[in-house]
Amino acid sequence: MRLVLLGAPGSGKGTQGEKLVAHFGIPKISTGDALRAAVKAKTPLGMTAKAAMDAGDLVANEVVYGIVEDRLAEDDAKKGFILDGFPRNLAQAQVLDDMLKRQGAAGIGKALHLHVTDEEIVKRLLDRAQKEGRADDTEPVIRHRIEVYNAETSPLLDFYGKQGKLVKVEGVGTLDEIFQRIVAVLK
Ligand code: AP5
Repeated sequence: MRLVLLGAPGSGKGTQGEKLVAHFGIPKISTGDALRAAVKAKTPLGMTAKAAMDAGDLVANEVVYGIVEDRLAEDDAKKGFILDGFPRNLAQAQVLDDMLKRQGAAGIGKALHLHVTDEEIVKRLLDRAQKEGRADDTEPVIRHRIEVYNAETSPLLDFYGKQGKLVKVEGVGTLDEIFQRIVAVLK
């Protein structure tokens, strides 16, 4: 399984991605998690990415390519993977296809679109802000992240739709309900 999780910020990509890891026994590759770890460790990559992340903008494409390519090359990703937060725009999707071709795979298998309304997203992420204090979980930045998603990432729905690889799931409900919907569309 070579799965891409698509969805607006707060749509549940990370949460459902963890459940998919447990279910399918393949790794999840999250560019957001990798970037936050780099920011926390104050690595050069983290220092480069921090301002864009705090503002809710995408970091430069070249910053994330190395993260993804290195992780895809690890042994545990050979039998499949779940990508959470990558690709984030058409250029990244093209580069992902090229990376997979170099590994002998014919692109991704499926792209899963988790659909959640903007108001539900704002509610979830403001709720998370009280518990985790993520720098980009303030209302103005959340709303900007949604705009960035609509402008930069949502064209991927059409990109993968035209390839017959897109499946869509309503992302509102209990975690188990959503997970069952996901497993059903991935069969
Ligand atoms: P990233 O970490 O990818 O952030 P995001 O897409 O905004 O994702 P979130 O983690 O906020 O949401 P999610 O969809 O994973 O939902 P989650 O399961 O966490 O990226 C952060 C930043 O890094 C970007 O803005 C950008 O700057 C940079 N970046 C990352 N990748 C990049 C790339 N490829 N290119 C360039 N820049 C990149 O859930 C959210 C909350 O909702 C949680 O509290 C959860 O408990 C709750 N929740 C989940 N499901 C439900 C449910 N069903 N009901 C109620 N609450 C729920």
